[in-house]
Amino acid sequence: MLQITKRTIHCGRKAATVASTSRLVSNRAQQKEKEEGSIASVFASLSGDKPVELPQRFSDLKKDIFKEHLVESWRDVLTKLKPEVEEVSAVGSAAIPRLSYHQIKTGVDEDSLRRLKKVGSVVVEGGVSEEEALGWKQSIRDYAAANRDKVKGFPADDVQVFEFYHSVAQTQARCHPALRDTQEFLLDLLHASDPQSEISLGSIMSYYDRLRIRKPGDSQFALGPHIDGGSLERWEDPGYRACWKHILNGDYTQHDPFDVSPRLDAQFDLYGAAGGCSVYRPFQGWTSMSRVGPHEGTLRVLPIDLKLATAYIILRPFFAPKRGPQHLDFDDWMLDLESTHFPGSSQGRTQELNAVTHPHLQLDKTMVSAPDLSPGDQVYWHSDVVHAVEAEHRGKSDSSVLYIPAIPLTVNNAHYLQDQRDRMNQGLPPRDFPGGDGESRFVGRMNPEDVEAGPSRQLLGLEPFPIPPGASPGAKRTVKKANEILFD
Ligand SMILES: [Fe+2]
Repeated sequence: MLQITKRTIHCGRKAATVASTSRLVSNRAQQKEKEEGSIASVFASLSGDKPVELPQRFSDLKKDIFKEHLVESWRDVLTKLKPEVEEVSAVGSAAIPRLSYHQIKTGVDEDSLRRLKKVGSVVVEGGVSEEEALGWKQSIRDYAAANRDKVKGFPADDVQVFEFYHSVAQTQARCHPALRDTQEFLLDLLHASDPQSEISLGSIMSYYDRLRIRKPGDSQFALGPHIDGGSLERWEDPGYRACWKHILNGDYTQHDPFDVSPRLDAQFDLYGAAGGCSVYRPFQGWTSMSRVGPHEGTLRVLPIDLKLATAYIILRPFFAPKRGPQHLDFDDWMLDLESTHFPGSSQGRTQELNAVTHPHLQLDKTMVSAPDLSPGDQVYWHSDVVHAVEAEHRGKSDSSVLYIPAIPLTVNNAHYLQDQRDRMNQGLPPRDFPGGDGESRFVGRMNPEDVEAGPSRQLLGLEPFPIPPGASPGAKRTVKKANEILFD
């Protein structure tokens, strides 16, 4: 299988110190060029890796973080998970909030907003016409055909997740007004508890990602339940760990997944993971290019209370089952600070979850599929939401999406955008993705000159960002710094 890129800093504690002092500067210096690869490099399960015993320092880390009152928190979380699990099991896909693009343009009602903020995922229907979305797919197929001998992706012998970043269709989708409006709406759900935080939630920027055209019958591209944004880093990096301050202090109800201030100090990738996302990405998302429903190779999410699910996941490494993970009562579990186990976590890989690592989530019942979607519909999920891709595509036609997240401007993100823009001009893969010559020798690549002036050029880093109305002092400073990074 593919080798992951070797990290340049090996000791986690040392890495955390280095990371915390340098993270607000660009982290470009820490990152080596990624090796060639595909999406398989990111997941231990796709790569066929066996779980590796972690070094002793991970037991020390648990002892450092643990406080006595977390035992009661654990009891409380287990109690509250039961009714949540039952509710989601009963309603299935309906647990995922659905909005129309029209609502986003005219105002979303309080109840829908409350549900969206509770579970952290949403489907947005309409906005992009079916004709337009299907046109994008055809354009990508034409691009693949025109460059047949150079196309890379997963699986290598019959590519369905394409290593494409610079096609005309992807650019058109990223710049589409309906996607921009939806992403502005999502970023507006976030807030910075510290007005000096250097983030501009009113400025969306583009983060180039891949696309998928999944064929019926495929069962190779099965991504089990996981959370993006590293795994061990959640506990190991002091900045990332600060995001769970209230959970680790014993009051998970105070945890605010929509406060961005602590996120800016988080280092999501201490191990130079291939495919690790190095920008702050509050919402991952995709836009559909096909009609797709449950059992047709679509997205699955865990739509239970995000605060509660996160509290469970953060507390989980401190406890172990006494007689097997299938026994879920509080009394069936014991404190575990001696082992180095961080279930579902491994160095340089994403956080994975299953019935053994996280049994109380009862993922077999609670991971629900996105509902029936039409071409042009969008799906987004908060960075802490557990998600997966259905193991088997049992539909009759392709299941196709463009991965397009909602990303705000930060100083670090602006450094990435500047680098991404420069690579775009050469047709090279963005820095977070497997390296190689990418699309540099492709014909029919997007031409930056074709992107119209205004918001589209801004989000691609081709034109300075304006200061958004009502910007906080930190936001104003961020936009100013971003424009200096991009254009000075
Ligand atoms: Fe993911």
